[in-house]
Order: sequence, then C-alpha cells, then structure tokens
Amino acid sequence: MKTGERANFGSKIGIVLASAGSAVGLGNIWRFPCETGENGGAAFLLVYLLCVLVLGVPIMIAEFLIGRHSHANTASAYKILSPGTPWRWVGRMGVLAGFLILSYYAVVAGWTLDYTVQAVANRFNVMAASDPTGQVFTEYFARFVADPWWPVVYLALFLLMTHLVIVKGVEKGIERSSKILMPVLFLILVVLVFCSLSMPGAAAGMEFLLKPDFSKVDSRVVLSAMGQAFFSMSLGMGCLCTYASYFRSDANLAKTALSVGLIDTCVAVMAGLIIFPTVFSVASLTPEAGPSLVFIALPNIFQAAFGGVPVLAYLFSVMFYVLLVVASLTSTISLHEVVTAYLSETYHLSRAKAARLVTAGCLVLGCLCSLSMGVFKEYTVFGMNFFDLFDYVTAKLMLPLGGMLIAFFAGWVLDRRIVWGEVTNEGSIRFRGFQLFIFILKFVAPVGIGLVFLNELGLFRWL
Ligand code: TRP
Repeated sequence: MKTGERANFGSKIGIVLASAGSAVGLGNIWRFPCETGENGGAAFLLVYLLCVLVLGVPIMIAEFLIGRHSHANTASAYKILSPGTPWRWVGRMGVLAGFLILSYYAVVAGWTLDYTVQAVANRFNVMAASDPTGQVFTEYFARFVADPWWPVVYLALFLLMTHLVIVKGVEKGIERSSKILMPVLFLILVVLVFCSLSMPGAAAGMEFLLKPDFSKVDSRVVLSAMGQAFFSMSLGMGCLCTYASYFRSDANLAKTALSVGLIDTCVAVMAGLIIFPTVFSVASLTPEAGPSLVFIALPNIFQAAFGGVPVLAYLFSVMFYVLLVVASLTSTISLHEVVTAYLSETYHLSRAKAARLVTAGCLVLGCLCSLSMGVFKEYTVFGMNFFDLFDYVTAKLMLPLGGMLIAFFAGWVLDRRIVWGEVTNEGSIRFRGFQLFIFILKFVAPVGIGLVFLNELGLFRWL
C-alpha cells in the first residue's frame, strides 16, 4: 500500500469513535477492575486518573501526530521521520508488543464468546437457580479456563472474526459499527451501574473504589496504574499511530485525544462501579480475585439485579456479553491492523497474506497462553504462567517503555515545526498549552516513567 492508496476514515466523529473503539475494550471492563482490586482500590484509581491526564493524553497526541504526519505504519513512521537512526526500533518494538498483546487478549476475548453462548442458551439463569450463593459461577469459570479444548476453540473463532474484518479492510466496517455500538455500550453500562448500586454490598464497593488509602501507594501500584493507563488507552506501541495514519488532515488531534481519553476513563470507572458493589455483595468473591473477577461477578450481577424477572436477566446478560464481544473485537482489530499494516507495507505482501501470517502466529501463541491456565499450569517463568507473563511483559514493560520513547521522540527529536503544524493543522486551529504539552513530552513523561521503572527494578534501594 502506498501513501496515495491509503484509506481514510470518513468523518471526524468516525475518527473519535474508531479510536475509542480501539481504546474501549477488555482493558476497561476486565483488566481495570482486576488491577484496581489487586492494587487496593481508590488509591490506585487516583494514580490511574493522574496517569491518564498527565501522561496518557499528551502521549496519545504524540502518537497521533507521528502517524498522521508520516502516513505509514508505525515502524515505517520512524524511518520516514528520522531516517537512518535506531528510532525505527521503537516502531518495531511496538509491532512486537501488538502481536504479543493480541495473542493473550484474544484468549480473554474468546472467553467472552463462550459467555455469550451460555447467556443465549440461558445457562446462567439455570445455574443461578441451582445455587443462590453464586458459588456456581466461580466453579464454572475455573472449570472453563482450565479446559484444554473450549477456550482454544473460542480463541480460534475470535481470531477468525478479527481476521475477516481485517482482510475486508477496516474503514467502513470499523467506523460504521463503532458509531452504532459505542453509544449502545454506554447506555447498557449506565443501566448496569444503577442495578449494581442497588445491591446490598454497594456501600462497601463504592468505598473500596472511591475512598483512597494512600499508605497503599508504592512503586508497584504506580507502575501498575501507569501500565493500565497505557493499556486501556491503547498507547505505547503505535496502535493509535497506525490509526492516525488514516486520519484526514482536518481532524483536530488534541480534541480527539481528549475525547478518547474521557470516553475510555468513563467506561473504566463505570465498569468499576458495576463490579465492586457486586463483589462486596457476593460472599464467594474478593476484590483481589484477579483475572477471574469480572467473569464471576458479571453473571452474578445479572441474576441478583433481575433475578425476579428472568426475562430481563436473560436479555441483559445476552446484550452485555454481545457488547463485550464487540468492544473486544474493535480492540483486537486495531491490534491486528498494526501488525498487518507493518508486514504488508514492509515486506510488500498482500493484505490478505499479511493478515494470515498474523492470525496464524497469534493462534499459536494464544494457545500457549490459554493452555497455561490448565494443562501447562506447571510451566512458569519468574513464577508466572505464560498468560501472566505476556501480560506483565507487555503492559508493565513494553508499553511504558514505548510511551517513554514516543514522548521523547516527539519532544526532542521531531522538528518542532512538524509538531506545531500537526497539532494546529498548519495554524488553522488553536492549541492552548503548547508549551506545557512540549514540557510534558520532553521532561515529565520520560523522567516520570523512567523513575517508576528504576524504582521497580529496585535500583533506589542502594542509594
Ligand atoms: N485498549 C484496549 C482495551 O482497553 C486494548 C488495546 C487495543 C491495546 N490496542 C492496544 C492495548 C494497544 C495496548 C496497546 O481493551
């Protein structure tokens, strides 16, 4: 694909919604509550919000401007903007991160497919009727993820769905579906927040999410919050950089980044408001439950909220899981697109061939991650199974490192006139706070992220 042939998103609102579609996904509804639960609740939330505002939004603008100015996939973007320098490795690391994230993300996305099937088959209502304590959902989840077959089948199915959209080309598909599905997702979330807040544990859940205990904040919490902010906003690996290469020249980059950040954060907080009241209402759940949290809490909440009216419980759970699938799909598409665009543009492969390579590679790695919950449980690296290892290496190492380098690149290396030209659309729109933006890119982001890293590696212990 040459620059001239590159597709564009059609409208400004389409740009916001497609980027929000990439950002909003399992990261908000599954990973955010899980990280918040494991890191002590409200204090984590505060650090997270700070990371979104101070690091996330400026770095998103930086990714946007790198992508739109170069009109290329993320690895080529650095080659075009800074030819002959090692900066191209930042782009390549991003492509690798995208590949690894897609591999384990698709496993969890596969779980949502199974949950959709179960919801459609009315299995959750039947399970709830057999065991009012909700324990049955805990057992179901544990049994399902450890199964050697079904999660792999759903993983393959999910990758296939992603593959089909990518092969067809994403412009019309992503943009059009995002315009309809994102508002619907939002509406359903609002309804579920109200349901969840009426549960018996609502007060305890709200307190956990909203009343900070700062004694819990240490470098591990800050690194987790930062990693989560990058993960949730699809930052640090050129995902939005690739999307921005399809933006039109009149898109307002700063406004788009702010809108995407806002939408993404709202959805995450709403997911928290849905999950934690439920967690504190169900005896068998604790906030530290980890990746299983959402999958156990959600079936419970539908039953608890609408149990008296089975039709509603049925409808809502079906709708919710379908939306979860769709939210994950818009995210897996954006991850797949990064790697596919790179392979096809760099190695001059057809889009279909590049996509096949990506899908096949992710299937192999994804199987490994999926099986590491069951048959391969004994195989661990640094005490983590493959699934947790992939998550750690990408979200806690590659994304923050990528974010740091992207900020550094836009702040120090890229010609200031290019940066200014992109954020103001060549002077035709205003960009308030340009100096602050540059200051963050040059100093705050690289130093801040660097310090958290060094601290995490234990280097300050010797000082
Ligand atoms: N942000 C998405 C989510 O919250 C996942 C995702 C898509 C992602 N593209 C990414 C994460 C790029 C990290 C980097 O579910």
